[in-house]
Formats: sequence, structure tokens, C-alpha cells
Amino acid sequence: MKAFSILLLLAFSAFCVDRCAAQAQDQPPSTPVRDSNDNPKLDSEIVDALNKRYGAHQGFRSNHAKGIVVEGSFMPTPQAAALSKSPLFDGAELPVTVRFSDASGLPHLHDGATLASPYGMSIKFHLPNGVDSDIVANSLKFFTVATPEDFRDLQLAAATSPPGGPKSEQFEAFLKSHPSVEKANATLGTPDSYAHEQYNGIDAFVFVSDAGQRQAFRYIIAPGKIVHLSKDEAANRSPDYLIDELPQRLAKGPVKFHTKPRIRLNNGQTIAKSLISGP
Ligand code: HEM
Repeated sequence: MKAFSILLLLAFSAFCVDRCAAQAQDQPPSTPVRDSNDNPKLDSEIVDALNKRYGAHQGFRSNHAKGIVVEGSFMPTPQAAALSKSPLFDGAELPVTVRFSDASGLPHLHDGATLASPYGMSIKFHLPNGVDSDIVANSLKFFTVATPEDFRDLQLAAATSPPGGPKSEQFEAFLKSHPSVEKANATLGTPDSYAHEQYNGIDAFVFVSDAGQRQAFRYIIAPGKIVHLSKDEAANRSPDYLIDELPQRLAKGPVKFHTKPRIRLNNGQTIAKSLISGP
């Protein structure tokens, strides 16, 4: 996999919409695309498992509960339109709403806590036709497990130990039988700012050009620089240091990220496989 030369610029303006997690409840969620073979109860089983692990916190997301929302813009380079006919790449600057978040269902955890990783960045692109398009990225270089069922079972196994506390035998057994969890977690760092982290798209997507040419890719959202703290440095910061720092930074000027598609030259790989293979 190599980083493609096309860069898509994301810049976030000084406008900070909301510092808490219970935002955007006035908009209905988009309709998920379902496979008829999917377990229809899996969504609720995953949310129940997250609630079992972290407790249910009314008005907050079951995962990535703590976060901050900002407004910005997305500017595709002219070359992007050759790869994809998506209205995302029409050439116009698009308004975006972005949410940076800590992992876990704990809405009041310390921003530097181990459970706060992976850090999240979700982007809502406001397309000219009035439709919104969403993507999520996080700071894992590759994902912990390969399937939603394993994600549910990981939460259930972790729920047998107190959050951040010593691991139960059941949790240890799950980690032993799923070595990708600890390998993926070893790729994580604790940033000194949400603006100083790289966010990875993880899943594979397909560009479809006007001519019908298909090209599999994954993407990274790269900051100007990555700055990670040691565990001690992070512990000495205030509990909300990431949430507090971003508005102060944005008051001085926009924060820019480059979205870089990564194209697999041999695209015979499956999406499920790329979910857990390293970049
Ligand atoms: C088995 C796979 C996964 C499952 C089951 C899962 C589950 C969830 C759930 C239940 C939420 C809370 C959603 C809400 O209440 O609005 C969430 C949030 C989130 N997830 Fe995942 N996730 C998975 C994979 C991923 C991957 C691969 C990424 C990134 C590459 C990711 C990034 C995020 C982010 C950034 C949020 C916060 C969204 C926001 O800011 O509104 N997740 N996830």
C-alpha cells in the first residue's frame, strides 16, 4: 500500500460548536446498508455490551462518549475528480462538521487515560445536494478485531474487569485468543492536542470514476505534525486538556489536516482482511 499523491485538504475554523457529547440529536441517523445475512440484533448487542463495560450514561454515545465538535471546510484537489465521480470531489469547497473524541463510553474520563485511546475523528460532509455524508477515523493504525461480533465479545470480556483495572481471567483469555487486539493497541499514542494526531480510515473503500474504473483505497488524515506525550506527561495534564486546548488553538487560526488516500496496487484483498492488516 502506498500513499497516493493526491491530497485533500481539511481545515477547521475557529468556530467551536459544542464541547460535550450530547450533540446533533435534532438530526435523524442515516439509514444503514444491511446484508440480509446480518444478525438483526447485533447493533443492540454491541451497544448493550459497551454499556455493560462502561455503564449506560444517558444522553451520551455508548462509545467515544467524550468529544468536541467544530466546523470547518474540505477542499479536494482537482486530481481527485479523476479517481472518483463522488460529489465530494466536484471541486467545490464543502462545509464539514467534525467531532474529535476520546474512546470508551466514559463521558468524564481523563483525556490522557489509557482508555481514551484510540482518539476519534468523525467528519460530516455537507454536500451541495443537501445530503450529508459521514466518515469515521481513529488513531489505531489497524483495527483490534476483524468482525463486529468479535468487537461485541471484546467488550463483554473487558466488562468482566473494572474499567482500567486489573484484567480478569476471562479478559486475559480473550486477549490470548485474539492477539490482534494488543498488537493494534500497541500502535497508539497519547497526543498533546487533537490537532497533533494522525487519524486512520482503517476500512477499505472503492473509488468509482466517471468511466466506471474501480480503485480500492484506504485513507489517513494527517496533521501538520504528530506530537505524543509519555504516560507521565499525559497523567500530569488536566483531565480535559484535549477538550480545553482545541478552542484555544482555533482562536488563533485554523487547524489543517491532509486526507491522503492509500491505494493498494494489488487490489485482490478483501475489505474484511484489510480491516486488520497493517498499513
Ligand atoms: C467492529 C467495528 C466497530 C464497532 C462495532 C463500533 C462501534 C461504535 C459505536 C457503538 C459507537 C457509538 C456511536 C454513537 O452512539 O453515535 C462508535 C463511535 C465511533 N467509532 Fe466505532 N465501531 C467500530 C469500528 C470503528 C472504526 C474502524 C473506526 C475508525 C476507523 C471507528 C471510529 C469511531 C468514532 C470516531 C466514533 C465516534 C463517532 C462520533 O464522533 O460521533 N469505529 N463506534
